[in-house]
Amino acid sequence: LILTLAMIIAAYLIGSISSAILICKALGLPDPRTFGSKNPGATNVLRISNKMVALTVLMLDVLKGTIPVWGAYFLAVEPLYLGFVGVAACLGHMYPVFFGFKGGKAVATALGTLLPIGFTLGALLMATWLAVVKVTKYSSLAAIITVSLAPIYVYLLKPLYVYPTLMLSALIIFRHRANIARLLTGMESKITHKI
Ligand code: G3P
Repeated sequence: LILTLAMIIAAYLIGSISSAILICKALGLPDPRTFGSKNPGATNVLRISNKMVALTVLMLDVLKGTIPVWGAYFLAVEPLYLGFVGVAACLGHMYPVFFGFKGGKAVATALGTLLPIGFTLGALLMATWLAVVKVTKYSSLAAIITVSLAPIYVYLLKPLYVYPTLMLSALIIFRHRANIARLLTGMESKITHKI
């Protein structure tokens, strides 16, 4: 139990390291919290800079989810609690202790926590997100649709993890409430780069 608690806390702390804020700072770019959608995530970094920088942020944010879950798995944390390790990493990204609890939406980090479940799930999630972006050009809508389908995918592939996945989906949709308002009023910004 101590190990499980330690892994949950470690996951929260790793999740709290905002790669978007740190990378923008290191490159002398504007703070993503004051620019565009004001979200410290890969989508907003793409608005500030370019695809390479956004991709780096995306990959680091994915790793923040994958590393704690893999770590806990190898330390033999019980399967049920692995889900909570993943949720903790995403809560760290959303409410980072190092950045005044003002973080991002944890789309990339949630993907990272789900990747260890298996290749099929990862491929389905990425294909869903990419397909919605291709058709609509909205990163937020792609995230909302992908996380809405994620519990169904997980239920079909690895039902053991359906409850933590439902929790992740609810949290991520909640974090997109400003995006949902903008989508409904036609004010949401589209991705203009070719993905
Ligand atoms: O990854 C977050 C994305 O779904 C929306 O980002 O910057 O458009 O609010 P943003």
